[in-house]
Amino acid sequence: DKGEFRHYMLKEIYEQPKVIAACLEGRISETKVLTSCFGADSAFLKDIDNIHIVACGTSYHAGMVAKYWIEELANIPCTVEVASEYRYRKVAVPKNTLFLTLSQSGETADTLAALRMAKELNYLTTLAICNVPSSTLVRESDLTLLTNAGAEIGVASTKAFTTQLTALLITSIAIASEKGELNEKKQAGLVTALRSLPAYVDAAIKQDEAIKLVSEQFANKHNALFLGRGPMFPIALEGALKLKEISYIHAEAYPAGELKHGPLALVDETMPIITVAPNNQMLDKLKSNLQEVRARGGELYVFGAKETGFEEAEGIYYNEVPWVEEVLEPIVHTIPLQLLSYHVAVVKGTDVDQPRNLAKSVTVE
Ligand code: F6R
Repeated sequence: DKGEFRHYMLKEIYEQPKVIAACLEGRISETKVLTSCFGADSAFLKDIDNIHIVACGTSYHAGMVAKYWIEELANIPCTVEVASEYRYRKVAVPKNTLFLTLSQSGETADTLAALRMAKELNYLTTLAICNVPSSTLVRESDLTLLTNAGAEIGVASTKAFTTQLTALLITSIAIASEKGELNEKKQAGLVTALRSLPAYVDAAIKQDEAIKLVSEQFANKHNALFLGRGPMFPIALEGALKLKEISYIHAEAYPAGELKHGPLALVDETMPIITVAPNNQMLDKLKSNLQEVRARGGELYVFGAKETGFEEAEGIYYNEVPWVEEVLEPIVHTIPLQLLSYHVAVVKGTDVDQPRNLAKSVTVE
């Protein structure tokens, strides 16, 4: 039931504060992540020396964000690969490697095949972060962390993605702590930030009307370029995927530093460039990348906290997102990109919940 909403996708975007709270429920105390959320025996956490993440589509983008968290917080090497590549090659598995799959449905054929292959290899254990408790992926994995997002009907994944990120941050903190890489004070700070996450996401959703206005600019666009740096690069990839799958606008994402290595040649006055600005030491670098774009006439659409210092100007559309702790930026800053693609699709009159050629669950290869 869509209730008051015109589409399931919008309903699911608005459900995010609630389902992120459900994903956190019972998994954190006031000061720490409760390792019991990985099952009765969480001893494997301190044995992990390597992580291989395997997933498809939006779930793969969540894995790409997790790599930044895992290497930063837990100081453990982490690789991320799409399942359709992983499953068809010879994979070298270092000692004590965790095999981690991400899937909303738990029925994606390539992800299941990757898990079955991994079970024949020398992994420490297999963990699935999944939204469907009764799925094949959950059944066949050694360990599971459920995302608790509830049924997702819209083909374009929204709440499944942000709850995957939440579960991945919980996992990264748990591993970091068990590996002795995270002191109590730092863990307490991260957990306090996590507690604020539903409220932050709610504040980001409040920009809906402003984003709807901006979306009208995209009605006649044929291309769009998303830029990001650090963990905001996978968020740019996810923004581009959302836009192409529901509005059929060709969209690409690049790490902002790659601009001058090729894609800058595409930029002219017809090319919108969308970016989510982080509030950290990379901000100045990003700003200079954006100047390169502006100098070629590209129109900029910037989402960032007030603290980033962006303002509306000729050729620059600025939309505010709430200030959040840096570690949470990839989760909260996903929201404006979801809303943008939704409203662009509505403006263009496409079938938002059932985009052409796509299925909710890809059970074929
Ligand atoms: C995009 C989207 C797909 C899925 C992908 C994997 O919005 O929904 O890219 O993320 O098909 O599906 P799951 O997560 O069910 O394995």
